[in-house]
Amino acid sequence: APGWPFWVGTSWKMNGLPDDARSYAERIAAVDDWHGVLPFVMPPFTVLADVARLLRDSPVQVGGQNMHWDECGSWTGEISAPMLRQCGATMVELGHSERRRHFGETDQTVNLKVHAALRHGLTPLVCIGETQAERDGGVADLILARQVRLALHGLTAAHVGRVMFAYEPVWAIGEAGRPAPPELVAQAAAGIRQELDRAAGAPGVSPPLLYGGSVNLENAAPYAALAGIDGLFVGRAAWTAEGYAALARAA
Ligand code: G3P
Repeated sequence: APGWPFWVGTSWKMNGLPDDARSYAERIAAVDDWHGVLPFVMPPFTVLADVARLLRDSPVQVGGQNMHWDECGSWTGEISAPMLRQCGATMVELGHSERRRHFGETDQTVNLKVHAALRHGLTPLVCIGETQAERDGGVADLILARQVRLALHGLTAAHVGRVMFAYEPVWAIGEAGRPAPPELVAQAAAGIRQELDRAAGAPGVSPPLLYGGSVNLENAAPYAALAGIDGLFVGRAAWTAEGYAALARAA
């Protein structure tokens, strides 16, 4: 921001048993005015279809937190893009740092998944971010540019415009994280935007860029005010429907 539309989304990560998921979805389905915010939620697969059904007539989009790049086959424990679509998802998160760190996600698998998502009409939300060591070593901008470039590898300029990105510094995420200073986010976002414009072939048509990492009610507005940031991607602070709705208002 400043400027609209502005995205506010949340990933529930590994939270949300059926009763809680349904009551969360019912509460946000009842929000009658999002004041121009584009809302989305990414619940666990086990409740995704339920949540999508409850939000069908609302502006809230629903997405998966990951998927496989293949459509079907011998991939035990995986979920495909067509499966997400059939459950009512319109988006899919790819390359979150927790998946990169604990589950072997790489820039190459993210790229395969971006292609698969677009082939099946899902909007990919690609998460990128540097570790503390990379920031301390002065290579954060290089790492971010490489993550962007590899995620978009092989896409036409038109397809680049259908991808979304979230800048999530690894050191800012989760229980051990601390929120990134807005000036740092602004500076990183400017570098990322350059890379996105390059991939899109022209400025202005390139993907929305969200910020994520320890976003809460106090810091939501300062992040939202940053010129290079088009939305917020929230974990813990949006794990209740009230928390999420309050953040959307604050943004
Ligand atoms: O996907 C959003 C996320 O990684 C940020 O999590 O809990 O630090 O807001 P949190």
